[in-house]
Amino acid sequence: MERGRIAIVGCGLVGRGWAITFARAGHEAALFDPAEGAAEAARARIATALDDLAAVGLLEGQTAGDVLARIGVAPGLEAALEGAVHVQESAPEVLEVKRALYLDLDRIALPETVLASSTSGFVASSFTDHLDGRARCLVNHPLNPPFLIPCVEICPAPWTDAAVVERTRALMEGIGQSPIVMTRELDGFIVNRLQAALVEEAFRLVEGGYASAGEVDRAVSEGLGLRWSFMGPFETGDLNAQGGIRAYAKLYQHVFHRLAQPQPQADWLETLDRGVEAEMRARVPLDRLGERSLWRDRRLMALAVHKRQQER
Ligand SMILES: NC(=O)c1ccc[n+]([C@@H]2O[C@H](COP(=O)([O-])OP(=O)(O)OC[C@H]3O[C@@H](n4cnc5c(N)ncnc54)[C@H](O)[C@@H]3O)[C@@H](O)[C@H]2O)c1
Repeated sequence: MERGRIAIVGCGLVGRGWAITFARAGHEAALFDPAEGAAEAARARIATALDDLAAVGLLEGQTAGDVLARIGVAPGLEAALEGAVHVQESAPEVLEVKRALYLDLDRIALPETVLASSTSGFVASSFTDHLDGRARCLVNHPLNPPFLIPCVEICPAPWTDAAVVERTRALMEGIGQSPIVMTRELDGFIVNRLQAALVEEAFRLVEGGYASAGEVDRAVSEGLGLRWSFMGPFETGDLNAQGGIRAYAKLYQHVFHRLAQPQPQADWLETLDRGVEAEMRARVPLDRLGERSLWRDRRLMALAVHKRQQER
């Protein structure tokens, strides 16, 4: 695959993750962030993350220095976009910020450059309708951090050129991501819609007093989540009934329809007030959440190593 130059526009949490993901795969990544010193600070944090990834063997045999050498700070937006084959925009989740930024990106970038957004919450048509080059824009939504979680959601606007979708899919596969390509726009894409169903039900169960937050969490961490790290609901069904997915559907459709009937939504904040927040803080005090996040990242790294070994 051609290793073209990538512009990383917006260097917060997500932009940094993308820079690592692209550079690890051999691309040059140019960082741009309008906040004073932000791109330089991002590069320093990337250096630390690369050391951790090298230590667990997640840099494909390269040193942290090899990968870092491909990540540079651009002096301005024009310089970042110069010669870029793909722009990965990770600016704040504010519609007016995105709409203004895309006017600049479309004006400055070469006509063949793909403009891709990391947005979690906006469909591409909501911030590209006013652009001459709107056919080269789409959403390329990562899960955080993309260098540990391969799934990325590609969601075109109604006017996105099919060739742009295809180029983005090929680019993502080329850097070791696992793109999910949607055929048309939908609020929340796929991952957050699945997540919304689960989180809402989790709150409903706890609000109804059926179990504590800890019990519900373990239903996922010691139960469903084990399977979900290597197969999804369709394959789970295919393997859970003799005769595959059709037999599964015949057996369980009525059961799951009963369980998934529309119900009143849980009041999340009230549920927290009624003891769930206290339970969470007893588990991990507020001032130790940072430590716990590091633990999560290490577990995720170990899982990423395991999955890569299985794939080989
Ligand atoms: N945080 C997550 O877990 C997550 C996951 C997936 C996708 N996303 C999406 O990624 C995007 C970025 O989120 P984040 O969590 O990295 O935010 P963040 O606040 O950590 O970083 C945003 C960065 O954009 C910079 N910025 C401000 N104005 C800008 C502009 N006009 N042009 C370019 N950069 C600008 C800021 O200085 C900051 O460094 C959002 O659209 C968000 O929805 C976030």
